[in-house]
Amino acid sequence: MTAAAIDARGLGKDFGSVCALDRLDLEVREGEFFGFLGPNGAGKTTTVHLLATLLAPSRGSARVAGHDIRVDGLAVRRNIGLVFQETTLDRDLTVEENLRFAARLWNLPEHQAAARIEAALRRFGLFERRRDSVRSLSGGMRRAADIARGILHEPRILFLDEPTAGLDPRARRSLWELIRSLRASSGLTVFLTTHYVEEAEPCDRVAVMDRGRLAALDTPAELKRVAGVASLEEVFLARTGHELAQTGAS
Ligand SMILES: Nc1ncnc2c1ncn2[C@@H]1O[C@H](COP(=O)(O)OP(=O)(O)O)[C@@H](O)[C@H]1O
Ligand SMILES: [Mg+2]
Repeated sequence: MTAAAIDARGLGKDFGSVCALDRLDLEVREGEFFGFLGPNGAGKTTTVHLLATLLAPSRGSARVAGHDIRVDGLAVRRNIGLVFQETTLDRDLTVEENLRFAARLWNLPEHQAAARIEAALRRFGLFERRRDSVRSLSGGMRRAADIARGILHEPRILFLDEPTAGLDPRARRSLWELIRSLRASSGLTVFLTTHYVEEAEPCDRVAVMDRGRLAALDTPAELKRVAGVASLEEVFLARTGHELAQTGAS
C-alpha cells in the first residue's frame, strides 16, 4: 500500500470569527491529479496554505508526503512545490534570474541548477525568453515561469492555486497541456484549486468545496452519476443548493 500524498483529518482554520475551513477530512493519493473546486471564499487558498505549512491550523492536522504539518514543516516544504494564486516572481528580473534565485534558495549545486533550469525553460517554452524580464511576458508565460520555478527542487506534490485564473482561453489551454505533460513524465501529485468546472473535469478526483466545507468528493464521472446530472456545475448546485459563481476573476 502506498502512503497517501495528503491526509487531512479534521483540518480547520478560523480568522477571528470567520471560519475559512471547517473540518476537512481528505486523502489524496500519490500520483493523483486532484481538483479542489469551489467559488471564491470557499476556503481553497486557506487549505493550500495550511497544507503547505504557511498557516497554522486552528484544529485538526494533516500529513503531507508523510510528514505532519504541525511538527515537521521543513520536511513538508522540501517535498512540495507551491504556485501561489498571484505570481510571486520578481518582475524586474529576467526569467532565468528568477529561476536561478530559487535554485539558490533550494541550495542546488551550481551544475545541477543550470541543468534543471535549462530543462524547465525548454519544457515550458520559455527558453527563447529566458533573458527577458518577467514584466515583458504574457500572463500565460508568467504562469508557466511560476510553475517552472515551483518544480525546480523536484517536489513530489505540486500545489497550484487557481493557476489559470485571469488567463485567456488559449493561454489556459496551453498551460493545461504543460501540466498534463509534467504529470505524465514525472508521476507528480498535483493538487489544483479552481473555480472553473471545465478544469476540474480532467482531474482523477474532485473535492467540491462550499463555504469551508467539503460538499462532495469523487471522480467527476461518479459525482455526475450520483447526482444524476450532466455537468460538474450541476453537481455543485445539487450538493450545495446554489450556483457556482463564475466571475472569471479570482
Ligand atoms: N488572512 C485572512 N484574514 C481574514 N479572513 C481571511 C483571510 N484569508 C482568508 N480569509 C477568509 O476566509 C474565507 C476563505 O478564503 P480563501 O481560502 O481565500 O477562499 P478561496 O481561495 O476559496 O477563494 C473567506 O471568507 C476569506 O475572506
Ligand atoms: Mg483563493
